Amino acid sequence: MALECGIASHLVCERTLPAKTPADYQPPFPAYVARFPADLKDLVMAVLGAQHSNGQPTELNIARSKLTSFFDKGPVHCRPEYQQPSCLTDNSGAYNEVVVAYWRSKAHYTEWYAASGFDHWWRGLDPQNEDHGWFLEVFFPPVNRFETVFSNNVVPEGAAHMRECVSGEIQEHVYWGSMRDRLPIAQTDTIEGVKADFDGGHGEDSTSKRIRVQGRRNLTVIRSGQDWSNTTPVERKLYLDTMHPVLIRGMDFLRDHGDEVGCISCRFMDVLDPQGGSGTDKTFGLAYFDDLSSLEGWSKHHQTHLDIFGGFLKYASKLQGDVSLRLFHEVLVLEADQQYLEYIGCHNKTGMLAAR
Ligand code: HEM
Repeated sequence: MALECGIASHLVCERTLPAKTPADYQPPFPAYVARFPADLKDLVMAVLGAQHSNGQPTELNIARSKLTSFFDKGPVHCRPEYQQPSCLTDNSGAYNEVVVAYWRSKAHYTEWYAASGFDHWWRGLDPQNEDHGWFLEVFFPPVNRFETVFSNNVVPEGAAHMRECVSGEIQEHVYWGSMRDRLPIAQTDTIEGVKADFDGGHGEDSTSKRIRVQGRRNLTVIRSGQDWSNTTPVERKLYLDTMHPVLIRGMDFLRDHGDEVGCISCRFMDVLDPQGGSGTDKTFGLAYFDDLSSLEGWSKHHQTHLDIFGGFLKYASKLQGDVSLRLFHEVLVLEADQQYLEYIGCHNKTGMLAAR
């Protein structure tokens, strides 16, 4: 079968940096990418959160509802295209309610930010008066600094809700380096980041402050999702017994020892039902690395991802390739001015506060 290139044709250019695709390479199983309209030049992924330092509040989702209430305000054309609620209890014991939301351009986001009243409300928050923390991590990747890949070509996730269509089966996956080969900018740019200093700011109490963190050159963001809602009882049990625990070990390593591999923050999030706010059969890891090569290094060399990767190959073989588990990831490599990072009354291991 003829395989498609992971990079959309309008973003392909003459490579000055060779791809790592092995000669005559045929991946062992299919994967697909979202194809965005050619006039989509940049997009926005925003992580909006509330942080409760004493664990789960008795009245759940109130802060999240406050955040999402702004999504229904302002002119309809500039509201988010897609949003996904989620939660986690972090390793400081704080309960975090998070919404990841997407806009089709920075211009749409900027218009929404002002017109919805979010800007006014956000600027008015005073950490001394709030009984919990708030955070805003907004990423503005030009389309050549973004890639997203799926094991399934039917159900979109994240930014793929803004797709024009889904590709046919692509060539660039399941070999190390394939993520970089799918990133348009990496055709001509080594996109090197700046090694993180994990000691910065840790002595300071951030819980009573509003702190804006400066963007970092070529910060690398990955959102890697798992959805087992469509599996048969047999596959579901196999996933929960064999893959899920191994994935948690990998995410715990990045969360607790990320400094060993250039990971600034890792949150393993449970996706919530947008209506009721209860749990779903979906999770995602949201991790920030100081450099794309740090992310590549962890995935290729660290035992925790090798166990995930190897576990998945065994899993697929046990199911004789008939896998209904849906996997996707989206990767962003951002210039410093393509990041807006602000924390109000959050503990100092929250997101990018961990490496200032
Ligand atoms: C690559 C499996 C979770 C980071 C891969 C590949 C597989 C895999 C099969 C090679 C496929 C490809 O390139 O298309 C899984 C499974 C997971 C999981 C089954 C969960 C059940 C994660 C998470 C992260 C992650 C949570 C990071 C937060 C990566 C990266 C690559 C990769 C960066 C690409 C490496 C490269 O191309 O150089 N994973 N993974 N994975 N995975 Fe995972």
